[in-house]
Amino acid sequence: MTEQVVQPLSNGKVSKDLNNRPILEVRNLVKSFPIRGGILGREVGAVKAVSDVSFTINRGETLGLVGESGCGKTTLGRSLLRLIEPTSGDVIFDGIDVTKLNPEDLREIRRRMQIIFQDPYASLNPRMTVGAILAEPLLIHNLCGDKESRLKRLFQLLDYVQMPKDTLNKYPHEFSGGQRQRICIARALAVEPDFIVCDEPVSALDVSVQAQVINLLMDLQKDLGLTFLFIAHDLKVVEFISNRVAVMYLGNVVEIAESKELYGACRHPYTKALFSAIPNPDPTAKTERIILEGDIPSPMNPPSGCHFHPRCWRATEECRKTYPGVTSSTATHQYRCYNSLQ
Ligand SMILES: Nc1ncnc2c1ncn2[C@@H]1O[C@H](COP(=O)(O)OP(=O)(O)OP(=O)(O)O)[C@@H](O)[C@H]1O
Ligand SMILES: [Mg+2]
Repeated sequence: MTEQVVQPLSNGKVSKDLNNRPILEVRNLVKSFPIRGGILGREVGAVKAVSDVSFTINRGETLGLVGESGCGKTTLGRSLLRLIEPTSGDVIFDGIDVTKLNPEDLREIRRRMQIIFQDPYASLNPRMTVGAILAEPLLIHNLCGDKESRLKRLFQLLDYVQMPKDTLNKYPHEFSGGQRQRICIARALAVEPDFIVCDEPVSALDVSVQAQVINLLMDLQKDLGLTFLFIAHDLKVVEFISNRVAVMYLGNVVEIAESKELYGACRHPYTKALFSAIPNPDPTAKTERIILEGDIPSPMNPPSGCHFHPRCWRATEECRKTYPGVTSSTATHQYRCYNSLQ
């Protein structure tokens, strides 16, 4: 939600001194999925899954991304890597506008931008050994040419994720969910990425295993200087792992701030409602519980004005009419609300 302007050149490169620049700058990103109907399959509408989203991620930090199911988190994460083609907007990664790249340059950028998915069961080919799974990205990107250096690299990858050497000869079904997710992390690390989208990487795991995988990700981030976009439903996990957190509602980022500030003093009523659902371990503490009425509206037909207004207890006439612009309360805290808290 920052207002810096970067002018991409026709080849996608950006001519700027990139020192102190964020590693990722997302500007006015939109992704609409067409809805087709009738026997001719004509376009009868569109789902605006991501709607005018702008934010930055600094090198080496973790930006958490939270919001109700269907608000567009996965679509946003995948659009950054162009695994889903954005409808409009810019994704500037280390000075290069990813949305303007030709397939060959995109391949090189994809080496530096990786993704880890929620389901470690579905994301590993059951017919390949772990060795073949980890070697695949090395071969695709022409890294580690000879067999010996490749094997050395595979052992190093297993070492990163604390798995034994004999893992290489086994198949994914021989491992537990947590171990499979470690293998997925090793596969993402194989190509030496700078930035990883972690799309609910621990949601499918037992709570005790979740903590191990999160600690592993945090250690790897420190050791390898990685930058994360960390998507999750568990707000406590996001608070623990993230430097800053963005809150999404119906395709928009409605609030973004440093983790401490957001959890301590959020401005947007939706953030407040979302966070009020976090259980407090202190039974004597008085926490205001806000129960939102109604379901999240359909992104096919979003409400007028602020999309949150039909569920908001602070909504005014203005909220019903026009979508709020970005307000900054501090350099690191932005929100979209006419009638904010505090
Ligand atoms: N390929 C697609 N075609 C049409 N609509 C889609 C497609 N993918 C996602 N959507 C729609 O876009 C919206 C956002 O979906 P998305 O999966 O990004 O949400 P999410 O925040 O990741 O949800 P969850 O928390 O359940 O993973 C939803 O309304 C979804 O139905
Ligand atoms: Mg998702």
